[in-house]
Amino acid sequence: MALSNPSFFQALLFLSLATSAFSTQPYRDGLTPNFYDYVCPRALPAIKRVVEAAVQQERRMGASLLRLHFHDCFVNGCDASILLDPTPTIDSEKLAGPNNNSARGFEVIDQIKAEVDKACGYSLVSCADILAIAARDSVVALGGPSWEVQLGRRDSTTASKTAANNDIPAPNMDLPALINTFQKQGLNSRDLVALSGAHTIGFAQCRIFRDRIYKDTNIVADFARSLQSLCPRTGEDSNLAALDPSPAQFDSLYFHNLLAQKGLLHSDQALYGGGSTDEMVKTYSDDVEAFWDDFAKSMVKLGNLKPLTGNQGQIRLNCRRVN
Ligand code: HEM
Ligand SMILES: *[C@@H]1O[C@H](CO)[C@@H](O)[C@H](O)[C@H]1NC(C)=O
Repeated sequence: MALSNPSFFQALLFLSLATSAFSTQPYRDGLTPNFYDYVCPRALPAIKRVVEAAVQQERRMGASLLRLHFHDCFVNGCDASILLDPTPTIDSEKLAGPNNNSARGFEVIDQIKAEVDKACGYSLVSCADILAIAARDSVVALGGPSWEVQLGRRDSTTASKTAANNDIPAPNMDLPALINTFQKQGLNSRDLVALSGAHTIGFAQCRIFRDRIYKDTNIVADFARSLQSLCPRTGEDSNLAALDPSPAQFDSLYFHNLLAQKGLLHSDQALYGGGSTDEMVKTYSDDVEAFWDDFAKSMVKLGNLKPLTGNQGQIRLNCRRVN
C-alpha cells in the first residue's frame, strides 16, 4: 500500500515544505525567521535602510526604536499596540505614564512602513514585525550584536493604557519589583539584567532621575552633583542625561558604571549593590561578548512574547490605526 512506498513520504515532505515555504498565511504555530523570504525578499533590506538613515541623522533614534519594541512586547505581547493613536475606541498606550512625552520614533516607524510596502508592492509586513526588526537593526547600527529575528507577528486591533501603566517597569523600582515585572512576562533575572543593558544607549529626562540624584544614597557624590546642575530640584523637567557615558555605543560601560554607583536610574543601580544580580553585572562589565550573547538571546525571548499569528489580528495598512 501507499504507506510502504518511500515516494509517498517524499511527496508528503515536499508538500509540507512547499506549503510552509510559499504560503502567504502566517506559519502555523509561532514565528519563523524566514517568514518574508519567499513572499518579499526586499522587505528586510528596506527596513534596514530606513533605520540606518534615521540613526545616521540622529544617533539617539536607535535607542528610541529599541525601546518601542520593549514597550510594545510588555503590553499584551508584541502586537504593535503601542503604535495606535488615540480615538474614541482606542485607549492609546501612547498616553500611559511610561510613554507619554517619552516614547518616540513613531515617525520613523511610519516611514519604514511606507518604504517596506513600496518594496513589497502591497501591505504585507506587520507593524509588530517592523518594530522587532527595527530594534535589531538599531542595535547593529550602534555597534552592538546581531541576531535572527523571529517573524510572522500580526497587529492588534486594540490597545490598553491600563496594561501599559501596570506592566511596563518603573524607574523607581527596586530589584524584587523589577524581577517580578519580568517574571510576569515569563522572563527571568538573567533576561532582566541582560535586557537592562539596553540602557547602554540613549537618554533619560530630568523628571525621571530627579529623586535618585537628590535622595538616593547608593550614588557616588560627584556624579550626583554634576547631574544636579543639569537637573534642578524644580523645572527643566525634560533636560536629558545619557544613560551611560557612551550613549551611542552598544558597549558594556552601562554595567561598568553600575559597579561605580553611577547608574542614572534608581532601577539601573538596583541591579548592583548586594542583591542576587551582582554577579551578572560584574560578568557583563568586563566581558562585552557575554553581554552581547545574552542580550541577543533575551531579545529573541522578548520578541516572542504572546504574538498574534495565523488569522488573529490583522496586517495594518497604517501602523497608527486599525484597518
Ligand atoms: C528593567 C526595567 C526598565 C526600566 C525601569 C526602564 C525605564 C526607562 C526610563 C524611565 C527611560 C527614560 C525615559 C525618559 O526619560 O523619557 C528609559 C530609557 C530607555 N530604555 Fe528603559 N527601562 C527598563 C528596561 C529596558 C529594556 C528591557 C529596554 C530594551 C530592551 C530598554 C530600552 C531603553 C532605551 C533604549 C532607552 C533610551 C530611549 C531614548 O533615548 O529615546 N529599557 N528606560
Ligand atoms: C500627556 O502629556 C501631556 C503634556 O504634553 C499632558 O497634557 C497630558 O495630560 C498627559 N496625558 C496623560 C494621560 O497623562
